[in-house]
Amino acid sequence: MPTSVQTRPEPVAAPGVACPPAAAPDGASTGTATGPASAGAAPAEHASAGTASAENADDRPGERPLLALVGATTPVPLLDGTSRPYTNLDNAASTPALEAVATRVQEVLPLYASVHRGAGYLSQLSTALYEGSRRTIAEFVDARPDDVAVLTRNTTDSLNLLAGCVPPGGRVLVLDLEHHANLLPWLGDEDDHDRPRATVLPAAPTVAGTLAAIRDELARAPYALLAITGASNVTGEALPLPEVVTLAHAAGTRVVVDGAQLVPHRRVSLAGTDVDWIAFSGHKTYAPFGAGALVGRRDWLDEGRPHLAGGGAVRDVRTDGATWHPAPARHEAGSPNVLGAVALAQACETLAALPEGALHAHETALREHLVAGLASVDGVRVARLWEDAADPVGVVTFTVPGHDPGLVAAYLSAEHGIGLRDGRFCAHPLLARLGASGGALRASVGVGSTLADVDRLVAGLHGFLADGPGTRYAVVDGCWTVAQDTRPAPTGYGVDAIAATAAAACGPAPA
Ligand SMILES: Cc1ncc(COP(=O)(O)O)c(C=O)c1O
Repeated sequence: MPTSVQTRPEPVAAPGVACPPAAAPDGASTGTATGPASAGAAPAEHASAGTASAENADDRPGERPLLALVGATTPVPLLDGTSRPYTNLDNAASTPALEAVATRVQEVLPLYASVHRGAGYLSQLSTALYEGSRRTIAEFVDARPDDVAVLTRNTTDSLNLLAGCVPPGGRVLVLDLEHHANLLPWLGDEDDHDRPRATVLPAAPTVAGTLAAIRDELARAPYALLAITGASNVTGEALPLPEVVTLAHAAGTRVVVDGAQLVPHRRVSLAGTDVDWIAFSGHKTYAPFGAGALVGRRDWLDEGRPHLAGGGAVRDVRTDGATWHPAPARHEAGSPNVLGAVALAQACETLAALPEGALHAHETALREHLVAGLASVDGVRVARLWEDAADPVGVVTFTVPGHDPGLVAAYLSAEHGIGLRDGRFCAHPLLARLGASGGALRASVGVGSTLADVDRLVAGLHGFLADGPGTRYAVVDGCWTVAQDTRPAPTGYGVDAIAATAAAACGPAPA
């Protein structure tokens, strides 16, 4: 029996990343002829994984990245034939990997073997890594000692899992401002007996009014569960969780928080807030390796319908039935994603090791700079749910009245190298409520963002309004794209062309 194992081998450098390729879409249908097509394709460039320098004590918050991210200096080609480092303002959708995460995954890869299934040394080591990651992830959200952490694929998976565990007949209360992932799992219908039935309560125009509406509804009818966002993926705003929990628990109602946009931006404490469950995603928390989590109370998860039926979730199987394990194994059938779990645990450790208040100060400075910059652009309107909402996270949705958000986003990408999101952000009822059923633009910051990134976006918007696009854009398959895209394709990645795609049901409302 060996007494030691090499657990920290030399990290292998992450592969370089190249410019995305040109797309020359066929069948361009409609478009805005705005100027001469820019000529000349930038040569494809390769850059090694970017090393962002961490903010130091003398920096103004937001001046420099807070943590180093893989790909921070990846160049992208512009239509004018030049290239520039990608300005990533789409962190609310997915974040790049922390360098610490990529390094950890490289370290662990040589140790990888089957989890929970093998007598071999590396199998047992991989199992220990997986279970250790589970503990780290639970500690990151300050779970109570008797809480359980189920490792899932992402927030959507976590919330669907919990939906299968709501006690029979239990009703769910949800606001009309949620991401579809925290709306659809609760919206059963008469024929769907597997899903709980939800009431969708309209949010009031103020935080205080919305809290009062929740209190009234909980007094009017019994609810098993209140499913609420920890931070809106559209406006970055949220209700104060301690107050939400107090009024829900007073009515005998449990609380699950959709933490997809909260966990990457703020420290969360289940023990401190008494939130019953929190769901979140690794790919939004700088660990894009396919793992997410549902952390919280054990009782419903021990008793509820197994999320997936299969090996690992059962104690004993007969031809006429099975005896299921309690949570977490009950909901983790199939071979576990050990590398995803290790990656998410490393991201949690790295974020937890930041000095107290540093993340908050960094992102608040960026959000304030962004909102002030947008206010300087003629006509731009920032969407707010509640003017009295305190301390929103760095997710800002805005419109440029008179201009299609898809066109503005395509222009910012092709002519400025800026990545942000356009559309309805998988929150159709909220976009309708905000008067933006035609879609909007969303800029979102993270630990790798800087004030200069925000300045680039604001300058790009000024340029758009002053001069218009420098080439012709067209709507192809429902998405705005460059009509004659001269940007070069990268080599060595097996990618022939890039193309905009209308994400299922996330584009503008049908006419
Ligand atoms: C608030 C919110 N909830 C849930 C989700 C779904 O997350 P995932 O796609 O990781 O399941 C998202 C994704 O954008 C989100 O922003």
